[in-house]
Amino acid sequence: MCGIVGCVMARPAAPLLLDGLKKLEYRGYDSAGIAVSDGGAISVVKRKGRVKGLEDARALKGGTGVGHTRWATHGAPSECNAHPHCFGGICIVHNGIVENAATLKEECVRRGETFSSQTDSEVIAHLIAAEEGDLLTAVRAALQKISGSYAVAVLSERAPDTIVCARRASPLVVGCDGEGSYVASDIPAVAADGRAVYVLGDGEFAVLKKGEPPAFFDGALTPVKKAAIAYDACADTPQKQGFPHFMKKEIAEAPQSAEQSFPDLQSEVYSALCEVLCQTEHIHLVACGTAYHSTLCMYYVTHRFAKMTAQPFIASEYRYMDPIVPRGTLCITVSQSGETADTLASAALAKARGAKLLAVTNVKHSSLERMSDFVLPTHAGREIAVAATKSFCAQLAVLYALSHTIAQCRGHQAPPVSPLFSAMREALAAGEKVRAWVPYFVGARSVFFLGRGADRYAALEGSLKLKEVSYLPSEGYPAGELKHGTLALVDARTPVVALITDPAVADKTMNAVHEVSARGAPVFLITTIPACLGCAEVTACVLLPACEPAYSPMLTALPVQLLAYYVALACGNDPDKPRNLAKAVTVE
Ligand code: AGP
Repeated sequence: MCGIVGCVMARPAAPLLLDGLKKLEYRGYDSAGIAVSDGGAISVVKRKGRVKGLEDARALKGGTGVGHTRWATHGAPSECNAHPHCFGGICIVHNGIVENAATLKEECVRRGETFSSQTDSEVIAHLIAAEEGDLLTAVRAALQKISGSYAVAVLSERAPDTIVCARRASPLVVGCDGEGSYVASDIPAVAADGRAVYVLGDGEFAVLKKGEPPAFFDGALTPVKKAAIAYDACADTPQKQGFPHFMKKEIAEAPQSAEQSFPDLQSEVYSALCEVLCQTEHIHLVACGTAYHSTLCMYYVTHRFAKMTAQPFIASEYRYMDPIVPRGTLCITVSQSGETADTLASAALAKARGAKLLAVTNVKHSSLERMSDFVLPTHAGREIAVAATKSFCAQLAVLYALSHTIAQCRGHQAPPVSPLFSAMREALAAGEKVRAWVPYFVGARSVFFLGRGADRYAALEGSLKLKEVSYLPSEGYPAGELKHGTLALVDARTPVVALITDPAVADKTMNAVHEVSARGAPVFLITTIPACLGCAEVTACVLLPACEPAYSPMLTALPVQLLAYYVALACGNDPDKPRNLAKAVTVE
């Protein structure tokens, strides 16, 4: 999604802004721009497309500037819709959505002002320009008129060498060192050796001025003191390390990510959590996309082994469904980024209704982490490709550990999770066979992923991954539901991937294989059961190591992720940057 960088320093700002924007590229964007102030006058360069298109801005003079990568929401990707947006000597970059932009714009137009973009963001510059007083006061007054979410960084011709920043429901961090002050929408874009980094709280403001340390203010503009956070300054943007794409590298890192993420069950944090888990009667699982699929897997395992219902919810539904949150509810939110707008809003709602919050997230200091009562980090390392791969397996490791603990609390036994980690390494090697399946998928009319039990949830994830990076229409489906309508879609141009890992229902899923094969569909089998391999109707198969069927998504995820990757390549797509998608969905 959109990204913000900014700096106030004695040397030229442009090179630093361009480098900062490059660090934000992984988030997904379609246009970019920078604005640099040289003692008052502000120069703006913006382009549709990649940050490298801004190279001519490197020579801009001036030590104060802001930069932005835009992921279009209101208005097509174009130069005029790219940020920064300027009006009346005010220049802004904005992440988030101004929900009442139409009404606010009408007021500005009535005053005789004209707009040069179709964005919701431009109105912020107009509102600030219309305010009296110093820049901080004007920014606060303008933002009070806005409904929606924002992280903003503001330059003014009337306040040289100054940036005013503010946030509501969209992340922003501030840094400072001997050379100057910095702002960015995520920590890696601001982190550097010897630099202090501060996380701006919701509703807070920061003023960055040349030659001064950054000053922080609460919503009433009362100064607040902030402690610098501890972060890994050496953690550079990950490199591909010889892999052709981040997606391939990150799939390869999945076994390690899962193993590292499995919580230390003896730790103080886990013991404290254990007490909560043992007392709780109601668990809500809330997440989006791939993270939602990992909660479905936890639901299944908890049901199976702990004989308890941990209820999964899609966050964008939960936040508007007036959820019933009984006393003593534990709300477990799962998010790779820890910044997904719907997940954050759901967490806030559950908290307001009395739930305790447990965050399972991959990003330290994320908004989700900071608002939660308990945190179980996934240790997947930074995930750069937009498609979630290793983070899914890392989430499963944490969530299966929780289910295991809940089962124990309730006097039940759950099989150990740890044998999965070495099995994942074997599954990764075996999964490479899917590369040979690619010709059957390129140009397919539609693809089905079928399974029962835990396989059903891995089927959902396999389908999401394929759609995301290959752009092929696809569905993940419970195998037994096919003949209730979906079978009408199946023909020779609809390859079917069948996931079969549970001997108890293997024959049942095999029935679905026979049904689709009888309609001419090529069938590809991913199984842990050698006896399933003999089926003459199967075009090709991958045999994975045996494992506890309820935990099998941790293994089957790997060949389905690889399949999506190889099909994307064959379709000529960049698997790391699928069209229209962003890594962290920080707006509704
Ligand atoms: C998955 O490949 C997607 N990138 C997407 O579904 C993602 O999982 C979802 O947007 C949730 O993101 P989060 O884990 O950062 O909250």
